[in-house]
Amino acid sequence: KLLHKELSGDQVLVVSNREPYIHSQEGETIRVQRPASGLVTAVEPVMKACSGTWIAHGSGSADRQTVDAHDRVGVPPEKPAYTLRRIWLSREEESGYYYGFANEGLWPLCHIAHVRPVFRSNDWQQYVAINRRFADAVVREAKTDDPVVLVQDYHLALLPGYIRAALPKATVITFWHIPWPNPESFGICPWREEVLQGMLGSTILGFHTPFHCKNFIETVDRYLETRIEHESSTISHNGKLTMVESYPISIQWPSPWQESQASVEECAREIRSSLGIGPDCLVGIGVDRLDYTKGILERFWAVERMLELHPELVGRFTFIQIAAPTRTALDDYQNFDAQVRALAARINKRFATASWQPLVLRIEHHEPEEVNRYYRAADVCMVTSLHDGMNLVAKEYVAARDDERGALVLSQFTGAAHELHEALLVNPYHIEQTAEALHEALVMPEYEQRERMRSMRALVRDFNVYRWAGRMLLDAARIRQREKLAARIG
Ligand code: G6P
Repeated sequence: KLLHKELSGDQVLVVSNREPYIHSQEGETIRVQRPASGLVTAVEPVMKACSGTWIAHGSGSADRQTVDAHDRVGVPPEKPAYTLRRIWLSREEESGYYYGFANEGLWPLCHIAHVRPVFRSNDWQQYVAINRRFADAVVREAKTDDPVVLVQDYHLALLPGYIRAALPKATVITFWHIPWPNPESFGICPWREEVLQGMLGSTILGFHTPFHCKNFIETVDRYLETRIEHESSTISHNGKLTMVESYPISIQWPSPWQESQASVEECAREIRSSLGIGPDCLVGIGVDRLDYTKGILERFWAVERMLELHPELVGRFTFIQIAAPTRTALDDYQNFDAQVRALAARINKRFATASWQPLVLRIEHHEPEEVNRYYRAADVCMVTSLHDGMNLVAKEYVAARDDERGALVLSQFTGAAHELHEALLVNPYHIEQTAEALHEALVMPEYEQRERMRSMRALVRDFNVYRWAGRMLLDAARIRQREKLAARIG
């Protein structure tokens, strides 16, 4: 309701690299998939609530010819609520813009996960060109000269500047879904000034935590000539003001499956029987994209250490790792895939019995409803990212547990750790500590699970994704009003 009120009469455009639905041809039928992306999880319910148009790279749609007809579609397919407008890229463009500068450059640069960022001039040129292409699409889609444009993430750092130049009255709200590093770390980017200037085309620039805002402001202070007002958290650059603010992202509440989902008991039974494990076997779950920032190796080492320290759990605990393949064309991701498989195989070989193995590794796409069943079946969920902007898996697990049972082991290096204080917080690099936290979760008394879960659920309920979007849009509405008034009174 708040979203409708704030946006009444305004056109809303969302722009992101990732598309919320992937169409692909399978025989005679077109298959629709929902990709694993925290960005999509968060932005989709907002778009459903306020309609408008979502412009995205038609990346996952494998066979362009079959999906060309879908370059403008109403989605969700079952009940269209907004329009999805796709931008098609050639292999070369995708390789420079998406795989290259965005995912081999900015992604490791901002996560500081000990993977060396790679910067190539060719990738940068594609990145510039594709950001311009998105800007052209925004201008084409704009029905007025002052739309509200929600720019998403590190693939589109230059887009705010281009929109500002073409549509000076637009309100550009940019949200950076990944961490922002300190000025020294960011400073190795050969095009740091251009990236910062592009981002400062935003009216509002959002990060998950105050810490990321502070890092960004310090980075701007180091590399650009600007005026910074710390009190109001604004940056003035080339006569334009940008407000830098933290807006912790969240998920839909109540969960979209609240009405239709199977009971916790049924989920627990079904998943244990599908794995051939007894009803008394404890189950842990990890749900990630197969990405080197997620701490999946560290998590497996912690499971191994926990079994060493607590051998009574050998044969009585199974950890299921769901990992969605991602960015598979990149070497770092292929190597990581091989390392994860090899480590799981080694640990399983070491501990497995005829009827049991400690790790179940599922490297494949899972639809969100299915993931929800695993959450409901699991005694513990492990989120051990080495660095993560927010991490919505932590919040999804909490939302799935309306029975107030289960425990969350959570990396202190996630944005979520700043909010979910009742999780068992760990440093994922500290294997011993993570192993002990896992054990503590598995033996946690029922009343303690309830108290922790109840408190975390209240937080996710109160600070859900509508609140995230609502706060940004309210701030934008205030700025729009002020600007309109200023224009009237000259
Ligand atoms: C992170 C990024 C998103 C991205 C998602 C999935 O959550 O912040 O922008 O969509 O990963 O990655 P992919 O490369 O598959 O879009």
